[in-house]
Amino acid sequence: MSVGQKLYEGKAKILYSTDDLDVLLTYFKDDATAFNAQKRGSIQGKGEINCAIASHLFKLMEKNGIPTHFLDRTSGNEMRVRSVKIIPLEVVVRNIAAGSLCQQTGLKLGTILNPPLVEFYLKDDALGDPLITVDRLRVLDPASANQVDQLRSMATRINSVLQSFFEQCGITLVDFKLEFGTDSQGRLLLADEISPDTCRLWNQAETDPDRRVMDKDRFRRDLGNVEDAYRQVMERVLEQTV
Ligand code: TMP
Ligand code: ASP
Repeated sequence: MSVGQKLYEGKAKILYSTDDLDVLLTYFKDDATAFNAQKRGSIQGKGEINCAIASHLFKLMEKNGIPTHFLDRTSGNEMRVRSVKIIPLEVVVRNIAAGSLCQQTGLKLGTILNPPLVEFYLKDDALGDPLITVDRLRVLDPASANQVDQLRSMATRINSVLQSFFEQCGITLVDFKLEFGTDSQGRLLLADEISPDTCRLWNQAETDPDRRVMDKDRFRRDLGNVEDAYRQVMERVLEQTV
């Protein structure tokens, strides 16, 4: 496979074309941003760590019948993926109240959400990725009504698989964000990444609300030891065979 031109550079990844029109190369960067890129920094080794974690979790998804864009990991920072048209929605699943849910609703941090919440955010940096209602979805039409139903049921299934996987790692899956796309045959595939950048993960061996954080909240909230936390997630994830 030969690597072609840079197609897109996002906040944490770069997409390159390849000699196969249906295949792209994703390069994971060490760059980290938060609060719609108002806070910028770098997490040493994050690119390789997130590429390793995301590859492993995409394999886990495929094994559980959830179609993804993942093909293979070609080097430390790189994976080959199927080319997809990204649906401009961020699908957030929440098992425990944290982050913007607590800020916007006053729910207490740590409140169990059963059944889990599935929320849709419009993927639009200029608008600050707003939370969107099902009625607004109908007006804006970023996805068909049928696709929205499919996104909800895929997100719920992904949550069940991820929750039990992380449980085996001694980690509580608090919440996470997913992105989906359609391939050249119109199939809906899980895309983007699943990593400590896109999940809230709490170490079950810690009770202190700051010490237990193993995800990007360490960077967002300046909690320190960001690299160590990401590396620990990777070690625990890779220990589990899929
Ligand atoms: P929130 O509580 O800030 O809305 O975040 C919910 C989840 O989504 C959390 O696991 C972090 C993840 N997330 C992203 O992956 N990208 C984003 O831009 C935001 C705001 C959150
Ligand atoms: N990735 C997002 C950004 O920088 C926000 C976040 O993850 O908190 O815009």
